[in-house]
Amino acid sequence: MVAPSILSGNFADMGAEVKNMTEIGADLIHVDVMDGVFVPNLTFGFKMIKDLRPLTKTPFDVHLMITEPIRYVERFAESGADIVTVHYETGTADIADTLAKIRKSGAKCGLAVNPDTPIDSVIPYLGGLDMILVMTVFPGFGGQKFIDGSLGRIARAAELRDRYAPSALIEADGGINADNAAAIAAAGCDILVAGNAVFGAADRRAAIEHIRRAE
Ligand code: DX5
Ligand code: ZN
Repeated sequence: MVAPSILSGNFADMGAEVKNMTEIGADLIHVDVMDGVFVPNLTFGFKMIKDLRPLTKTPFDVHLMITEPIRYVERFAESGADIVTVHYETGTADIADTLAKIRKSGAKCGLAVNPDTPIDSVIPYLGGLDMILVMTVFPGFGGQKFIDGSLGRIARAAELRDRYAPSALIEADGGINADNAAAIAAAGCDILVAGNAVFGAADRRAAIEHIRRAE
């Protein structure tokens, strides 16, 4: 599956961007929420998701790069997020409670790990997890280069999934394009996020197809 990240879209015309992504075959719409504290950048919050929700049936895959996500996950689910993903690095004290809160609110739950966090950190949370998000860049900005060595991390995440959470999906996020997509999928990734590779392409539909069919 391909999940275009609207972080690379035109913020002044997000409704049109989201409708366009649906028309050209996006499987999910990846929504990067940043608070300027957990990462050094700011994007958007619930209101954007709520206002975009009626414009498409394509599921919203909401990636929360925010501190204390437990305070906000329910509101993201209520606003129309289909998957709510929080970061392991926000602190282990309440990750289990945060994931439980997401599930209770009716959304699917994901756990994201930064490039310098061991993948095995997710093991205690795998029961009931719907998605493991393997960051393939340091979060904060679109258009960065895919970090070498991420393929082994994706493969390890897929191995853990097979063993402990067979229905969970593996998502990779950051620096993905038609050139590296085949290797990422071969490592065991189910959902490939792509920002610049889709929104920056002259032919966006072809860009999604190239990532999906990469060999
Ligand atoms: C990074 C975000 C990514 C990013 C992907 O903090 O989580 O979703 O927008 O964009 P590209 O594909 O341009 O790296
Ligand atoms: Zn993201």
